[in-house]
Amino acid sequence: MKHLLSIKEFTQPQLLALLKLAKEIKAQPAQYRHALAGKSIVMLFEKPSLRTRVSFDIGINKLGGHCLYLDQQNGDIGKRESVADFAANLSCWADAIVARTYRHSTIEKLAKYGSVPVINALSDLYHPCQALADYLTLAEQFDDLSQVKLAYVGDGNNVTHSLLYGAAILGMTMTVVCPEGHFPDGLIVSEAQALAEQHGGKIILSTNIAELSDQDAIYTDTWISMGDSTNLDDIKQKFAKFQVNKALMSKAGARYFMHCLPAHRGVEVTDEVLDGEGSLILVQAENRMHAQNALLVSLLT
Ligand code: CP
Ligand code: NVA
Repeated sequence: MKHLLSIKEFTQPQLLALLKLAKEIKAQPAQYRHALAGKSIVMLFEKPSLRTRVSFDIGINKLGGHCLYLDQQNGDIGKRESVADFAANLSCWADAIVARTYRHSTIEKLAKYGSVPVINALSDLYHPCQALADYLTLAEQFDDLSQVKLAYVGDGNNVTHSLLYGAAILGMTMTVVCPEGHFPDGLIVSEAQALAEQHGGKIILSTNIAELSDQDAIYTDTWISMGDSTNLDDIKQKFAKFQVNKALMSKAGARYFMHCLPAHRGVEVTDEVLDGEGSLILVQAENRMHAQNALLVSLLT
């Protein structure tokens, strides 16, 4: 693999190998402290970030590399000069580009016109680095990911898309429960269903939250993603039944709760669940760094 634009580019052995490497780097960080010596990575962010920005920056530092952050102050990528020229110039100095953009097509163009690896740090379509950290988090709890039942509840979005591809490649059973009109992209769902079938897994879509049962983990994300101008008050009522609270967790039989963060406390999830015993949110956040470091080591060394 040259780039990470979407998690669907992984084969199952590649994905399992990456998770294994992430576990190794997490356990023995000192062995990787020079892995990126002499390498410089540019991070290009059109949208705000806490976890992604900090975990890449500190992670690259822990691998002995250097990282340079360019934010929205530079204006939308492609405004002052074309994305193609932007990518070609960055490739003259940087060894990799990490990009968070509004449009997924911008990341595709960076990969097309640059000559160095490009890592998608979130676009309107995907959030592959998040899914890598999430599957690392589950792999620490379950020996065999193919036996895991994961339910995603809420708005079908970029995070859902990456989780779907990951679950499908790993042969998991993933149930996505959304209000009518808020399902993940139909094409992505069909591709994930085909991949899941190939790997002995299953992708199930439903609007019936009352029927959710027998799950290992429940995952939710914001009801309104960055760049979406929907008013929260307008959709609160529509999504009310999809809030992850203690009652839903216990009815679904789920031991673990997951969220990519930032969380909107009392909106898509209650404090009780976020701060509860089964909450994996801070492990997910920590694992962003380990999963991304494994990715950087695989792509750059
Ligand atoms: N989960 C995640 O990507 O967080 P940030 O938006 O803070 O980077
Ligand atoms: N779906 C969210 C994820 C934030 C990390 C968004 O795109 O805003």
